[in-house]
Amino acid sequence: MLSEQKVAELRADFVALGRQVGDQTAVFFDGPAGTQVPRCVTQAITQYLEQCNANHDGAFATSIESDQWINQAHQAAADLVGTSDRATIAFGANMTSLTMALSRALAQTWNAGDEIVLSRLEHDANFSPWLLAARDRGVTVRYVDINPDDCTLRIDEYAGLLNDRTRLVAVGCASNAVGTINPVKQICDWARECGALSFLDAVHYAPHGLMDVEAWGCDFLICSAYKFFGPHVGIQYGRRELLESLQPYKLRPSPDNLPGRWMTGTQNHECIWGTHAAINYMASIGGDLSGGTSRRDALRHAFHEIKAYEDQLLVQLLDGLEQIDGLKIWGITDRTRLHERCPTVSITHERISPQAMAERLAAAGIFVWHGNYYALPLTERLGLEPEGMVRIGLLHYNTAAEVDRLIHQLKSL
Ligand SMILES: Cc1ncc(COP(=O)(O)O)c(C=O)c1O
Repeated sequence: MLSEQKVAELRADFVALGRQVGDQTAVFFDGPAGTQVPRCVTQAITQYLEQCNANHDGAFATSIESDQWINQAHQAAADLVGTSDRATIAFGANMTSLTMALSRALAQTWNAGDEIVLSRLEHDANFSPWLLAARDRGVTVRYVDINPDDCTLRIDEYAGLLNDRTRLVAVGCASNAVGTINPVKQICDWARECGALSFLDAVHYAPHGLMDVEAWGCDFLICSAYKFFGPHVGIQYGRRELLESLQPYKLRPSPDNLPGRWMTGTQNHECIWGTHAAINYMASIGGDLSGGTSRRDALRHAFHEIKAYEDQLLVQLLDGLEQIDGLKIWGITDRTRLHERCPTVSITHERISPQAMAERLAAAGIFVWHGNYYALPLTERLGLEPEGMVRIGLLHYNTAAEVDRLIHQLKSL
């Protein structure tokens, strides 16, 4: 587990964590909407812009170097998601844009009467793109429900929903609202058994656990670097045969080979290089890359350490929240089931609105999110629209002292 001293060392590299609100140091519990970044990431972005700022595929030095650096970023992202084939990684603006584009391409292979399966636990970015594509192609959408008492998926429902007409199963690795981690390997297995493709939204999971596209057996996975200490860049993985055979919506002169055919327009090169730095930052928590540890092994070890530390903070948070009258915690609270959740906790209060709670905490220098955080399928299902909930998102750069401050403030409301 990460020691307090190690966390203090890591925090020293995040300039933003030193921000003051009045006479208090800010507490960043807004990570699920975007994490802060360590210095190595901002330095990498500057380094790119100062040293090899050029477009792709030129004959001259800066363009050649730029392509080499971007290739390194593809390799780092491949190590992060768990594939050895870096050409199966495409970068893009963000998860939503990549999913919109992929859904258009996939939908070309669907026919009226086909079916797709979504879940009610999703961020809308893993919901609306598929609904729109299904509407365009006359495809029927089926939904896996949740257990409202602990906000887990009703995975028993897949058996009744999957059949030989199912073309796609889309599901999140973890909920950005209530933290639930889904049994994605099992779901991908079921999809494959009935001849459907599987799509995983790993945006919320990525800063908390090791992604593993090969072990999970998914066909597609998309995540976003700004949720794991990097800049605003989306990352798409797809199974090579599919990326080669599907027809992306693309310009005629743009490359037709992998990965270029899935990377629309000129990319955000400096932030792709920043993403490379963010992945190396996470790996550095688990091992010394210059000492011969492979990046994948270092990442595996890093997430092991991160999970143990985050779970300790999560228990402290749940213990504190449970002492507060009138507060409801949405999601898993059973301490023996922490492996089924990320340290992302949503709460409501019987008298104080989510917005009022977030504003009062903000005045005390504590940054939390309120509303539905685009997890609209879930807040609709839970009957929590339009006000939503308050979300406290813990990350490895948060501390026990910060959790204490939050509990203290919530008690004083
Ligand atoms: C679980 C989840 N999926 C998808 C998204 C959308 O990601 P992006 O902002 O990269 O489009 C988010 C963003 O909050 C998210 O938390």
